Amino acid sequence: MKDTKSFESIIPTALYTAYPLIFTDIPFAKEMYNLLNEKGFPQELKKDILAPSLEARYKLIDKLCDACGSLQILELASGFTTRGLTRCLDNKNITYVELDLPSVIKNKQKMIKTYSRIPKNLHFVKGNALNKQDLNKCLKYFDITKPITVLNQGLMRYLNFDEKELLAKNIFDIIKQNNGFWITCDITPANSNSLNIHTNEILNSFTDRNKFSWRYKNREHVEEVFDKIGLQIKWHDCIEVIDNLTCSKNLNISRKEAEDRIINIAVGVISIKK
Ligand SMILES: C[S@@+](CC[C@H](N)C(=O)[O-])C[C@H]1O[C@@H](n2cnc3c(N)ncnc32)[C@H](O)[C@@H]1O
Repeated sequence: MKDTKSFESIIPTALYTAYPLIFTDIPFAKEMYNLLNEKGFPQELKKDILAPSLEARYKLIDKLCDACGSLQILELASGFTTRGLTRCLDNKNITYVELDLPSVIKNKQKMIKTYSRIPKNLHFVKGNALNKQDLNKCLKYFDITKPITVLNQGLMRYLNFDEKELLAKNIFDIIKQNNGFWITCDITPANSNSLNIHTNEILNSFTDRNKFSWRYKNREHVEEVFDKIGLQIKWHDCIEVIDNLTCSKNLNISRKEAEDRIINIAVGVISIKK
């Protein structure tokens, strides 16, 4: 495992995305936050403004992952999310592998052990999602003759276009063998509403990798880039899961406001181009 240094400034963004989930019913989100908080959680990263969009992307990815039906899931840049833990505790037939940068995985494993056993079917790999050798370490846990679903939420906006392409080509190689799927919200194009301006200010104070020029312009732009790699996208909108949001009640957010906050967030189910 090498080349992880230049990505380390992204790590605090995993706290920014972990905090709003405490206002949701996502299992273990509060337990995870409490432990992160004990270790020292910068006050500036405790913002609930993204709760509707983060809950929506989480739940839409869950729904689409279920629809794919794969029992083999690889979550890249999983941060402090608890999807892998929940799924593995619920279904022992799943094989779930999480990959993130070494310090994140090290802390995460330690933290989970304080509130749950780590199921035998949940595996952690310390590494770089752009590094083929690290991805191969993940693949060792799977039966590569069967479909694999790759997930990621919140990684690609911090990658430049060359890095995004490298990641997409790596994932192409994983899903091509057996008609797997890649499900991600990271292809949501940039938009410049006030929420984004606010979020960008906070993110920019923690990472040098949140650059507007690294964002996709629109859906056509995303499709063009993915088409060149041999991938096709089926778009879904977070509005699909608006009725499943629990943060609205906890934060006293009206349906209209929740809609406004998730309106631009898309999730793609990506597969090999036919
Ligand atoms: C915005 S956080 C998202 C975390 C989580 N997916 C979520 O939804 O809360 C970005 C994550 O990307 C991870 N990351 C950044 N660069 C990476 C890389 N090259 N390989 C693997 N993980 C990476 C960070 O450590 C961090 O956990």
